[in-house]
Amino acid sequence: MFSRIIGTGRQLPERVVSNRDLEGNLDTSEEWIRERTGIERRHIAADGETTVDLAEGAAREALKAAGRQAADVDFIVFGTTTPDLVFPNCGALLQARLGIRGCAALGIEAACSGFIYALSIADKYVRCGEAKCALVVGAETLSRITDWNDRGTAILFGDGAGAVLLAPSEEPGILSTHLHADGSHGDLLFATGGVSRGFNDPPGRGVIRMRGHEVFRLAVNALSSIVEETLHRNGLEAQAIDWFVPHQANLRIIQAIARKLGLPMERVIVTIQDQGNTSAASVPMALDTGIRDGRIRPGHLVLCEAFGGGFTWGSALIRM
Ligand code: UT7
Repeated sequence: MFSRIIGTGRQLPERVVSNRDLEGNLDTSEEWIRERTGIERRHIAADGETTVDLAEGAAREALKAAGRQAADVDFIVFGTTTPDLVFPNCGALLQARLGIRGCAALGIEAACSGFIYALSIADKYVRCGEAKCALVVGAETLSRITDWNDRGTAILFGDGAGAVLLAPSEEPGILSTHLHADGSHGDLLFATGGVSRGFNDPPGRGVIRMRGHEVFRLAVNALSSIVEETLHRNGLEAQAIDWFVPHQANLRIIQAIARKLGLPMERVIVTIQDQGNTSAASVPMALDTGIRDGRIRPGHLVLCEAFGGGFTWGSALIRM
């Protein structure tokens, strides 16, 4: 038994902030941002627009694409670092929005790897027969924890949500998922504040802190090794991959991994120019983009990966 993606969806906030818009408040330039990251613009949630608001739109799109009703959903896994509330978890909040009740609903916090972690969990529930229609979400409002005075991070992040539905299938399906973490680098990428330490340590709301250059280097190493692990586990060469759907953190990271795989950029789904880094939302939104514009088609072999705070990183090899 495999789990198979039967529908995808995404939702982006309407408001778009360009690199030029950021030049006014930060010691940066449109060119620097574009050349060093590949980002040209990002979507930022309106006042009062929450992670679950965006996720609901993405989930409804995924249900429509799959031809399923909300009532069919029997398992929800929601990856986010920017939940609406401390609790209930966003999976439960989304369940209520969809007007359903009873099925298990969990929240997963694995920063930018949140969607891959969520997908891996849902895959196992579907494969063992515990779920027949699993809703997997990666959604963020990172703008709420962005320090808009820090040019090292404020230029990078955006808001959005992506969702996929998984159903059991005798045909593959998700071929394998791979998850890793290394907590010893927690100080290189984290958000301040938190419940147990007190939201006032340090004073003010939680904000992202990152030593970008070191994160960049470690991300390239970890992602290179996980794509090799994924191919090796499946006895495949990189050339078998039809589409590479990477986490959209920095175009130079994406290019470095594609180069190591020997894949031309024509076989890579890149959305970073329009969305920035949307953390857990980036992979499902990129996947949905490639499917909806007709590049990713049934039967194609898709390799997804992500890397984020923790550090956490993960991959999924998927037959569409
Ligand atoms: O999604 C989770 C994982 N996150 C990532 O994977 C992000 C990984 N890191 C990155 O994407 C990159 O490290 C950044 C885009 C954050 C920074 O790019 P970089 O090429 O690594 O730059 P850097 O931090 O080494 O800084 C180079 C220079 C510095 O100036 P000096 O010291 O050489 O004079 C920075 O102060 O660029 C300066 N700089 C900027 N200049 C203009 C840093 N940020 C900016 C900026 N505008 N926004």
